[in-house]
Amino acid sequence: MGAYENVISRQFDIANGEFPEVNFPKFQKYTLCNLRGGIGKTTLAFNLSYLGDDVLAVDTCPQGNLSFFFDNQYYNNASTSVRDLILPYLIPGLGKPTHIASFVGATNKFFEDKQTYYIPSSSELYLLPAQLISAINQTSGLQSPTRETALLSILHSLRNEIDREMDEIGKVSKCLIDTSPFFAGATQLSWYATDALIIPVRTDQQSIKSLELLIQTLTSPQGEFRKYATDLNIPTPKIQMVVLTHCGWSTVAGARNKPNQQTEVYIRKAYDILNRNRTLLTTDDPSNHLFLLDDFLGSGRISSFLSKPLELLRPGESRTIDRMKVSVNESVTKCKHQLEFINNVIW
Ligand SMILES: Nc1ncnc2c1ncn2[C@@H]1O[C@H](COP(=O)(O)OP(=O)(O)OP(=O)(O)O)[C@@H](O)[C@H]1O
Ligand SMILES: [Mg+2]
Repeated sequence: MGAYENVISRQFDIANGEFPEVNFPKFQKYTLCNLRGGIGKTTLAFNLSYLGDDVLAVDTCPQGNLSFFFDNQYYNNASTSVRDLILPYLIPGLGKPTHIASFVGATNKFFEDKQTYYIPSSSELYLLPAQLISAINQTSGLQSPTRETALLSILHSLRNEIDREMDEIGKVSKCLIDTSPFFAGATQLSWYATDALIIPVRTDQQSIKSLELLIQTLTSPQGEFRKYATDLNIPTPKIQMVVLTHCGWSTVAGARNKPNQQTEVYIRKAYDILNRNRTLLTTDDPSNHLFLLDDFLGSGRISSFLSKPLELLRPGESRTIDRMKVSVNESVTKCKHQLEFINNVIW
């Protein structure tokens, strides 16, 4: 069986909640990342934070969508943010805040029974790229090894602070970092902080291009990421999975397990990229690293509207959103299983 057939054949079992064995190394910290917007980074971070039970979720995207899901008052509150954790490493003399993470169940009732915590974002993260570059440039005047020590402290700022917060909370064993669609600034620091990457790719050509750009940014020796990482012996994070989002299936009678034409094209393209970049994967079988998520359709809209994890939606539920009636249809069960499968294999 070819790799493409491999990916497809297991979809039927996953849809029915029968999860195939995938022997993955497990990691503590994952960064959800792709250099493109609207592809599912935040949606995945939100749903996996729920399924993971004891997760620290870190919102490094200045748009703050994940923070809003956790606390609908987020945009009205000026809480201490992930930016306040990073800045003292860039600007000498600033005090280092502690105990920043909040219990999600305090502000989102769907998480009351979960040990999920989060570190909120800040819209001012838009300024971080310039501040980061300026701090890095200032180290170039220092003598070795002071220079390397100073540089490492900057690049590992987010990593150190996440570890400290996890220790302080005590109840979390997992971490998910949501990122913006841009590399410079907090995303770059997330790559230095993370053990492995989860890369959502939407079934469109721009998302495939972004995947290629991400891989180039991750591996190019002269690129912004490796430029510092190589000298300082910082490892390049491996790719745990590409999650192809917004997948659709053929509606032709009898074709119970056949992707629609668009989905098929992008499964093949994504697989091809993984196959060409095997050394970046956490195992040596690329077909193990391609995961599919169906288009959430109305369920996704209701989930976002209510800040309610997909896992808690039931077929038949409906809501009026922007004066239109939106319903959760039967397909939500398959989407839930696909998300549970991802959750099962990463931790
Ligand atoms: N299978 C799916 N996976 C993820 N999102 C989906 C899926 N199907 C539909 N959606 C919808 O697609 C949208 C994805 O938006 P999301 O905010 O998660 O993207 P993002 O990558 O975080 O964007 P940004 O870079 O702007 O932060 C949501 O409205 C979500 O409901
Ligand atoms: Mg987002």
